[in-house]
Amino acid sequence: MKRILFLCALLGLVGSAALEAQNEKSRMLIVYYSYSGNTQTLAKEIQKATGADLFEIKTVEAYPEEYQAVVDQAKKEIADRVRPAIQALPENLEDYDVVFVGSPNWWSTIAPPVSTLLSKVNLKGKTVVPFITHGSGGMADCEKDVKALCPRSDFKKGLAINGNVAEKSSVAVQKWLKEIGLGK
Ligand SMILES: Cc1cc2nc3c(=O)[nH]c(=O)nc-3n(C[C@H](O)[C@H](O)[C@H](O)COP(=O)(O)O)c2cc1C
Repeated sequence: MKRILFLCALLGLVGSAALEAQNEKSRMLIVYYSYSGNTQTLAKEIQKATGADLFEIKTVEAYPEEYQAVVDQAKKEIADRVRPAIQALPENLEDYDVVFVGSPNWWSTIAPPVSTLLSKVNLKGKTVVPFITHGSGGMADCEKDVKALCPRSDFKKGLAINGNVAEKSSVAVQKWLKEIGLGK
């Protein structure tokens, strides 16, 4: 009897250690830039479904509030490959195995502040998962351009959601997370 009890206790210990190791292994971070809130809404849906930590990329100089002005500035920055200064980088990146990278689709690519962040951090060996909101152009070059900036990362299939329905994206987010093996 004692031996059985001892065995059960041992199995329990091994089991909980394995579970802890697994939880530890899948620490997730969401980094995102959002100009008008849609990508932030999607980032928060992903956070709700995964429990990941959240990091918002903020520029040192704010983009203009006027729509045509930001559209024009973004066009020029993208053409000139400008990397606008950002306020901070996420801390303790080494603690994370999975990094979701979120951006609005700007001129069919990721917003320059996201390129700034990706060019400053080393995501080697981590799993990178792009997510995008757009006006109707879908993923376009966004996923490809994230990959180009993270040449030594593994990738999971990204998600593109129309910004107009970001607030109603929870079912799509859960389905996508399940598909890529990151669902609860
Ligand atoms: C500068 C700029 C460029 C954009 N370019 C595109 C584009 O090429 N294709 C597209 O589908 N939507 C485009 N949009 C629309 C945004 O991708 C869409 O509204 C997105 O949901 C905004 O996300 P945010 O609210 O997180 O900033 C653009 C918006 C801005 C401000």
